[in-house]
Amino acid sequence: MSTNITSVLKESRVFAPSEAFTQQANVSAEERERLVAWADKDPDGFWAAQAESLHWFKKWNKVLDWSNPPFAKWFVGGTINASDNCIDRHLTNGRKNKAAIIWEGEPGDTRTLTYQQLHREVCKFANALKTLGVAKGDRVTIYMPLTPEAAIAMLACARIGAVHSVIFGGFSAEAVADRNNDAQAKVVITADAGWRRGKIVPLKENVDAALAKSPSVTTCVVFNRCNHPVTMKDGRDVWWHDVMAKASADCPAEQLDSEHPLFILYTSGSTGKPKGVLHTTGGYMLGASLTHKWIFDIKDDDVYWCTADVGWITGHTYTVYGPLANGSTILMYEGAPNHPAEDRFWDLIEKYRVSILYTAPTAIRAFIKWGNQHVEKHDLTSLRLLGSVGEPINPEAWMWYHEVIGGGRCPIVDTWWQTETGSILITPLPGAIPTKPGSATKPMPGIAAEVVDKDGKPVPANAGGFLVVKRPWPSMMRTIYNDDQRFKDTYWSNYPGVYFTADGARQDDDGYIWVMGRVDDVLNVSGHRLSTMEVESALVNHPKVAEAAVVGRPDDLKGEAICCFVTLKQGNDPTDDLKAALKAHVAKEIGALARPDEVKFTDTLPKTRSGKIMRRLLRDIAANRVGTGDTTTLEDYGVLAKLRADEE
Ligand code: WTA
Repeated sequence: MSTNITSVLKESRVFAPSEAFTQQANVSAEERERLVAWADKDPDGFWAAQAESLHWFKKWNKVLDWSNPPFAKWFVGGTINASDNCIDRHLTNGRKNKAAIIWEGEPGDTRTLTYQQLHREVCKFANALKTLGVAKGDRVTIYMPLTPEAAIAMLACARIGAVHSVIFGGFSAEAVADRNNDAQAKVVITADAGWRRGKIVPLKENVDAALAKSPSVTTCVVFNRCNHPVTMKDGRDVWWHDVMAKASADCPAEQLDSEHPLFILYTSGSTGKPKGVLHTTGGYMLGASLTHKWIFDIKDDDVYWCTADVGWITGHTYTVYGPLANGSTILMYEGAPNHPAEDRFWDLIEKYRVSILYTAPTAIRAFIKWGNQHVEKHDLTSLRLLGSVGEPINPEAWMWYHEVIGGGRCPIVDTWWQTETGSILITPLPGAIPTKPGSATKPMPGIAAEVVDKDGKPVPANAGGFLVVKRPWPSMMRTIYNDDQRFKDTYWSNYPGVYFTADGARQDDDGYIWVMGRVDDVLNVSGHRLSTMEVESALVNHPKVAEAAVVGRPDDLKGEAICCFVTLKQGNDPTDDLKAALKAHVAKEIGALARPDEVKFTDTLPKTRSGKIMRRLLRDIAANRVGTGDTTTLEDYGVLAKLRADEE
């Protein structure tokens, strides 16, 4: 872990929300101050009052049980159901005929589901799952294209208390098998295929390969999205439409304990093995719905579009659970932003009159590169609020987003959070606080986020430090699935009783937080988390590779590019063909999102005397920054010289 954090970013522009926005905002500046003070003085009272906004079958008798840290229990004794909160209560509050999901497929096909229709689909699929033997607590893998059925599958699991584990469709068969095995999944829900950039992504084929190595899985449900030919294995595979045809639409939501697991979501940490982040029901639903309401200033007539796939935490919390809990109309789009042309997003916004857009800096940087002409073709006046998530947004991308997409009138919420935090922790409330390009501003009311030094002491203004959270919060992860020890070690051992985010940050003179990025070995590639170790183990898995070290290199579009240093086993030639083969091998092992941008062959890797790979040096070499590393501990100066010579 790097302990020397400095920031070179100097940014002094400040943007206050417009009078027009402030006047209609869900949370005003005064209200925000009041909420922050209340939550600091009486956190339990604050969270209890907020939790009243959810529907509980039975109220809790204790807000927080923190008697066995870091294992938190929220709303102890309460019973609740996420699917009931996302659907059923809107059937009686005047929203039953409101569009819940407006969906567009990549080829242009469209569907709209009202809350009433969504209810019927979810109930039927929940019953279908029961018929297939899924019981409360069972794990179900969801590996789907971004279709309404992905959300229906998630909500159906939640309805019967099954624990979903959604895997992004870009992950490989290997990755699916690993996750199936770790979670001991019983059922996999997939589709024949999905559309991406005009091509078919063969999901079922990947599942077939994964299931050959996933002994716990007894059944695979296949949704027919593309009419793509698939092999259905007798006794194991069933069609979505067949099980739905037989299912009853009557399925009351299970009354689940507040701490009943809602989902596992695998994410990369600093070791080779992805972590199954576990979230439970009551606290997560509070975090999701409250942040969505306050941060996105959601109103009943908004058309809200979070562009994240449900395979990521952003898709869980802000495509599905948060907005549906608030009875919002969500837009869901299956495919790529540049298909059939680079104006697809703007076309969708114009067509559906989207009012709130939530996307990632990596996408924004791509839009900038593609050019303003694609934006200017479209009427984007329906937009009133913009959001950013996944990585630090560089001020120039922020300005472009503000001016070109937001027409200068839309506040931008730069939202900092993690798979582990369940919901947004640091963010502007858009009508309540002026924004600065590149800063996520301040913690949500109730969130005790701080920047500290390595001893846990607050750092002075403008000095770099580690971002931590000093009090538990309702949507925090509960553990790493089946690995309590790793949960303790990873997040709670640096500072006892304090959550360690593994991000570096600084606070400016106004107390605004500027998140600078990871201080562990996690890469952020196009807003996707990847561990360097994961890529290294994939490389070492290749029969010709002896050793590998992977580092990130700054990249204008992706944020970070994946750069691999590889030593080969004797007798293998360092050819371009082998470079290409290694890239393909990593993509096969993990998924296309992990495909290395660069492979460099070397005779040995630079190591310290104790045998640790000198990553800082490799990062400098990868980024073409030569000479900043302290090389006196280099085991072999020749290695460095040779690697640098290769740069020329
Ligand atoms: C980074 C995504 C700066 C951060 C929701 C964090 C950000 C990691 C921001 C979590 C932001 C996310 N500004 N950095 N607004 N949002 N990050 O688990 O490094 O996929 O630790 O969750 O993304 O990534 P994850």
